[in-house]
Amino acid sequence: MATREMKVNIKTTVPSETVADRMENLAAAGKLTARNADLHWLYEQSVQNVTFEVKFIDRVFQREYGNKPTFLREDFCGTALLCGEWVKKRSANTALGVDFDGPTLEWGRINNIEPLGRRASAVTLVQDDVRQVTGQPADVVAAMNFSWWGFKTRAELSEYFRTAYGNLGQEGMLVLDCYGGPEAQVPQIEEREQNGFDYLWDQDHFNPITGDVRCLIHFRFPDGSKLKKAFSYDWRLWSLYDTCDLLAECGFRKTEVFWEGTDKDGEPSGVFRQSRKGDLAPAWVAYIIAFR
Ligand SMILES: C[S@@+](CC[C@H](N)C(=O)[O-])C[C@H]1O[C@@H](n2cnc3c(N)ncnc32)[C@H](O)[C@@H]1O
Repeated sequence: MATREMKVNIKTTVPSETVADRMENLAAAGKLTARNADLHWLYEQSVQNVTFEVKFIDRVFQREYGNKPTFLREDFCGTALLCGEWVKKRSANTALGVDFDGPTLEWGRINNIEPLGRRASAVTLVQDDVRQVTGQPADVVAAMNFSWWGFKTRAELSEYFRTAYGNLGQEGMLVLDCYGGPEAQVPQIEEREQNGFDYLWDQDHFNPITGDVRCLIHFRFPDGSKLKKAFSYDWRLWSLYDTCDLLAECGFRKTEVFWEGTDKDGEPSGVFRQSRKGDLAPAWVAYIIAFR
């Protein structure tokens, strides 16, 4: 497969109204609808928290290697929101984003990278399969929002993990997120109110024999209009323990699981700490860090 590198044009003039401005104004006025809402903006608002991710990556890397990482590779980068946040964090930081979906990458280039001005040149976007792209060794390879679950067989996931291992420097780490718990296997729709719209996570189907899971994202707006099946995912629900075993087989020296703590009311606290023992939460999100 040919690798297509996208040139990031450095704009000296900032467009008068960005997509984010337009969406935020509509949201604040309660006027977002299925017709005027931008899909990628809705997605980023609903499921991404790149400020947290950058801090988390820095903390874990520093603890292991004693210094801050500089070069981040974001596999399955989608709109490259994490790449943008990464290069904003420190002037030495650079990022590579890889995704095989051209229109999504292009949206990210226009909305998340070009607005960085001079710092835009610190980000390279490549349109290709993540298993096909090699290059400068990264301090961190990140595969967020369960994107690596698209590899449904051990052979496919091993191939990806081996590629990720090869793309890391001597002091490097792979960051994966994972979710689970009994509720992860139950067909159900979870709703969350966002600013100006509702986000609906639809666990549409689970096959207990293969571990295949089909999940959908829908959005609902104040006027009653809906964007149904705005995003759909065909994944395998990988477990933490099988994944850690496979990472070891693929050469990683050590894997650690970061488990979320609870606050005084027993609710998830948003603080993730390295742990060997999880609690029996009905639904959880955790991070796996695999060190080269
Ligand atoms: C769930 S989205 C994740 C977007 C973003 N990274 C995030 O954290 O929300 C999955 C992305 O992975 C891309 N993708 C899936 N399989 C891929 C592959 N084998 N190689 C490159 N990109 C892939 C899709 O095009 C999509 O943009």
